[in-house]
Amino acid sequence: MSEPIAQASAAGKAILFGEHAVVYGRPAIAVPVSQVRAVATITPAPLGSGCILEMPDVGGQAAPTDDPTGHPLAYVAWLALSVLDALPPPDWRITLRSTIPVASGLGSGAAAATAIVRAVAQALGRSLPPAQVSALVYESEKRFHGTPSGVDNTVIAFEQPVWFVRGQPPQPFVIGRPFTLVIADTGVASPTRITVGDVRRGWEADPPRYEALFDAIGGIVHAARRAIEAGDVAALGPLMDENQRLLQALDVSSPELERLCAAARSAGALGAKLSGGGRGGNMIALVTPDGAADVTAALEAAGARSTLITAVGV
Ligand code: PMV
Repeated sequence: MSEPIAQASAAGKAILFGEHAVVYGRPAIAVPVSQVRAVATITPAPLGSGCILEMPDVGGQAAPTDDPTGHPLAYVAWLALSVLDALPPPDWRITLRSTIPVASGLGSGAAAATAIVRAVAQALGRSLPPAQVSALVYESEKRFHGTPSGVDNTVIAFEQPVWFVRGQPPQPFVIGRPFTLVIADTGVASPTRITVGDVRRGWEADPPRYEALFDAIGGIVHAARRAIEAGDVAALGPLMDENQRLLQALDVSSPELERLCAAARSAGALGAKLSGGGRGGNMIALVTPDGAADVTAALEAAGARSTLITAVGV
C-alpha cells in the first residue's frame, strides 16, 4: 500500500447531561472520550481513478458525492473538498477505521465525519478552524439523525468539554476538579433518529408535559455546571440519577440501561444515567478513582458488552 499523504483522527464523546432536551433549546454538557477514536487515512490512488471512501469496519465503500441523500460520510467528504476548492475530487483512497461502536451514543458518525474533514484539509496542506469543521460535520449529522441539536459535532470538532445550547457557539467551560466515569455499552444498537423521532411525537401529542420535562432537565444541567465548575464532584451523582429519572419519563431508557445503572449504583457509583439517544447504546457512571474497578466489574457482571474508564478534566 502507498504511503499515506494524510492521517487525522477524532475522539468519541459522551453527553453528561441534557440529551433530548437539548434538541428543544435547553443546554447540554458533553465531553470528548479520547480512548475511542475514528481515524481517516488518505493514500494516493492510481491516476484518473478518482476518490473513493472505504469503510472496512462497516463493510462499505462510497465515492464523495454532492447528493445529500447519499452516504453521509461521502457527502461530508465532498463538502470538505468543496470548501477547500479541491473539486473535482483528487485521486485518493480515504480509509476510515474506527473503534467507536456504531449507534451507541458515543458519537461514531460525527467522529468519523470529523476525521475525514480533518484528513482532507491536511492532505491539501490546509487547516480548518474547529468551528468550520463542526459546521461541515453538522451537515452529515443531519443525514444520520434528521434533526440533530449539533452537540455531537461541536464537542468532537472542538475536542474539549462543552456547554452547548443549540444555535449558539459553544461556551468555554471550566472543570474545577477532574472526575472519573465508567462508560458501559448495553450492546443494543439504537439509532438516535428513532428515539429523537419518538420524543418529537410525544411532544407534539402533549406539549405541556414534555416542555415541563425539558425544563426540569435544563435545571439539572445548570446545577451540574455549577457543581462541575466548583469541583463539587459529590453533587454530580444525584444530578445524574435525577436526569436519568427524567429520561425514563421521556421513554428513552430501556431494561438493559436500567439494569446497568442499578448495578453501577449498587457497586458504589455516585450516580448513573444513559448517555446519548437512549433505549440502548451506552450508559455512564460517576465513580471515585478507587471505585472504578468495582463498578466496572459489576457492569460486566450485569451484562455490559464493553466498558471503559475515562477521566474528565485532566
Ligand atoms: O445518540 P447520540 O450520541 O448521537 O446523542 C444524541 C443526543 C440527542 O440529544 C438525543 C440528540 C441531539 O441531536 O442532540
